[in-house]
Amino acid sequence: MQNEDLAQLARLALVGRQQDVQLFVQRLIRRYRDTIPELATQLSSLLQENPTRSSPLRRQEAAPLPVDLESRLQLLRIDAHPSVEVEPIWESTVSKALEQLISERKQTEELSKQGLLPTRSLIFTGPPGVGKSLAARWIANKLGLPLLTLDLSAVMSSYLGRTGANIRHVLDYAKGVDCVLLLDELDAIAKRRDDSGDVGELKRLVTVLLQEIDDWPSSGLLIAATNHSDLLDPAVWRRFEVRVVFPMPSDEAIRKAIDTYIGPSGVSREWREAMSVTLRGLSFSDVERELLLARRSSVVHTIPLEDALGSIVRNRVEPMARRERGQIATWLAEAGISQRQVHELTGVSRDTIRKNAKSNAEPDVKEK
Ligand SMILES: Nc1ncnc2c1ncn2[C@@H]1O[C@H](COP(=O)(O)OP(=O)(O)OP(=O)(O)O)[C@@H](O)[C@H]1O
Ligand SMILES: [Mg+2]
Repeated sequence: MQNEDLAQLARLALVGRQQDVQLFVQRLIRRYRDTIPELATQLSSLLQENPTRSSPLRRQEAAPLPVDLESRLQLLRIDAHPSVEVEPIWESTVSKALEQLISERKQTEELSKQGLLPTRSLIFTGPPGVGKSLAARWIANKLGLPLLTLDLSAVMSSYLGRTGANIRHVLDYAKGVDCVLLLDELDAIAKRRDDSGDVGELKRLVTVLLQEIDDWPSSGLLIAATNHSDLLDPAVWRRFEVRVVFPMPSDEAIRKAIDTYIGPSGVSREWREAMSVTLRGLSFSDVERELLLARRSSVVHTIPLEDALGSIVRNRVEPMARRERGQIATWLAEAGISQRQVHELTGVSRDTIRKNAKSNAEPDVKEK
């Protein structure tokens, strides 16, 4: 390939002119068909795999993307090639459910021999920031399907009479595409009920939703996510074939999250242990936020990461039980932090730190 072609391609790509990139790639295919046929073939299959952003699903679906009839705003967020940056941490119950789902999709023939269809619809429940939306993306990625997201809290904010039509519009569109459709923040429907007196309109809306869930084809996968399953009409969540409960992270999961978000070059085991006690009770997304903040702060102030982590400890110990403070203090002392500093970070007295260090050391002596 000529250097100037490469440079021109880079130029178009860097300014984000996707349509132009496509046209240019088409030209390259013609240009190199005879001289470098492998390149031409490769480029043309790339073109087919990556339809334009304005209609990412052009290959499968000719229908225009659903928009709100009045505002003309797009109702769906479309990710043609969903990617997951870090491997998520799943509790074993979650992981079992997700793996089962993937296996079913990979063995549809075996299932159909027994007259069975793979799971069509799931509902994910759990507190904020524990991976419900992430799981939908992860599944779409594993199945090689595009992810279509309908954020119900956004749709619900529009005029209620139009919401039903919008939901039907979106589900109709999604049914025609092999995809994972995520109905995110499903509880927005229930919340709306508290705000407005328009009960009749909402009932109709729920009916629309129930019908759509029932009609959902088994070729696609419908996932709903909510952090207030209690607010939902039981008729709604009963409609979903599988319910996956996403718990708050366990101590073990927090440890893994620390490894994930601090990165391999990070800090000693003792510091990680101290942080896993410090961050106990937080969601994955809060753990991620705290640790990224610390990493940024370590870079911009050119201080060791441990100092930035120390600030998290100092900010979080105040309401903690004595036992937990004691654990953090012990780990920090073992990490080689001076007793004075450990006291300053955790509020645990130097006497206690010294005693804990001794009682921890004794079993070691016996083991030897
Ligand atoms: N299980 C997990 N493993 C690793 N990272 C996670 C996990 N769960 C959440 N995160 C991090 O937190 C971010 C937010 O998670 P996500 O959007 O999936 O939460 P959610 O459960 O959908 O919350 P909400 O109810 O607020 O929508 C993710 O993008 C990811 O970076
Ligand atoms: Mg979410």
